[in-house]
Amino acid sequence: MMALAAAAVAQPPVQWSEEEVRAIARHGPWPPPAPRDPSNRVAGMANAIVLGEQLFNEPRLSADGAMSCSSCHVAGRDWNDGRARAIGRTELDRRTPSLWNVGYAYWFGWDGAGDSLWSQSIRPILDPREMAGDAGRVAALLREDKALACGYERAFGHKPSGDDEKLLVDAAKALAAFQATLVSPRAPFDAFRDAVVAGDREAMARYPQAAQRGLKIFLEANCSACHFGPRFTNGEFGDVGIPFFIRPGEVDPGRLDGLSKLANSTFNLLSRHNDDASGVSALRTRHVQRLHSNFGEFRVPSLRQTGAGPFMHNGHFATLEDVVKHYSEVSPDRLHSDALPLVRPLALTAEQSADLVAFLRTLSADVAARPPPPPLCP
Ligand code: HEC
Ligand code: HEC
Repeated sequence: MMALAAAAVAQPPVQWSEEEVRAIARHGPWPPPAPRDPSNRVAGMANAIVLGEQLFNEPRLSADGAMSCSSCHVAGRDWNDGRARAIGRTELDRRTPSLWNVGYAYWFGWDGAGDSLWSQSIRPILDPREMAGDAGRVAALLREDKALACGYERAFGHKPSGDDEKLLVDAAKALAAFQATLVSPRAPFDAFRDAVVAGDREAMARYPQAAQRGLKIFLEANCSACHFGPRFTNGEFGDVGIPFFIRPGEVDPGRLDGLSKLANSTFNLLSRHNDDASGVSALRTRHVQRLHSNFGEFRVPSLRQTGAGPFMHNGHFATLEDVVKHYSEVSPDRLHSDALPLVRPLALTAEQSADLVAFLRTLSADVAARPPPPPLCP
């Protein structure tokens, strides 16, 4: 037995084995080092981040001048819109995901149709169901709007230049530089995780008992197999039995479709727009395989700072309670055979379900209101 469990403390109801301590440690530390993106030459650069934030709030990127990224990815709402399915010019098929910690991902969108943060940022600008814009409009804005042209020059080191498509990509790279700064704050779980690693029982006791019991269930149920590491996602795809009908008779093929879109994209990492001369950043895209088992798979979402719901790729569940009920009762018949060893009905009691929800809530913190964006060219 390990020292931690054996030691007498004032309130020691939840005991942790050495194996559990190692498993808890793997969900941190938080925050991780700032993300890097060699495919984006302005990633991490202060002036590009300023330009990106302006563009994120810029409705003139859209055809009717009425929709910006922030119409759906709302800052005060954990960067989503609280809807089951996003509403662009029409209702979309999927939910707006949070953008917290998006800089650490390598597949983007629920179906992984994007392989970089900048290429993913182009999609909504061009999609006729979303902002319905085009490269010419974005390029003209960067060339002709005085403030944006100035912001561009500061970010890229020269006046807006090149063809329309290149300027669209540059705008997306500034958008990506901004979004990569959206790292979620430390949550109550993080203080507990660090206390466990340090063996600091006093600090551990400050983490609610219900959350500790819920964390134990999370580990025992092997949720971490998919919700892995500091972000609580392995960044890959899975099927946990969420119905994927869009409308009667029409299904969302998820990852299977995403891989076709990725291969056919003018903006993937194999394109001329990748700034990484080494080619290393394109390896994953070059070698990814499209398998029939990808049908109906969706990206494993991070469990940090998920927001108030709804949840899942199509907002199928309104609350975390509903999500936990699903994992408790899921019918193995509804799963891909390859998901079966990982997802199985947990048959939780009401108290256990409440504990698991209590734990999941400790992965989020109250977020301070965002200050207004800094000016482009002070
Ligand atoms: C009409 C609502 C809407 C607008 C406007 C919108 N988005 Fe999104 N965003 C979504 C939806 C829905 C998805 C999920 C798409 C999918 O999986 O097919 C998404 C996905 C993303 C992702 C992937 C996140 C992840 O976790 O993989 C990024 C990044 C993103 N959007 C950035 C942007 C940027 C930048 C803009 C503005 C240029 C923008 N979005 C405009 C609704 C919107
Ligand atoms: C096989 C991999 C896998 C396992 C194991 C797994 N999940 Fe998930 N989880 C996913 C995927 C994939 C989704 C998104 C599914 C979708 O949108 O259709 C998801 C979604 C979620 C969501 C919703 C997040 C959001 O923002 O929409 C929560 C909460 C969640 N899982 C918690 C858990 C818990 C708790 C466990 C353990 C009982 C668990 N998961 C086990 C893959 C997994």
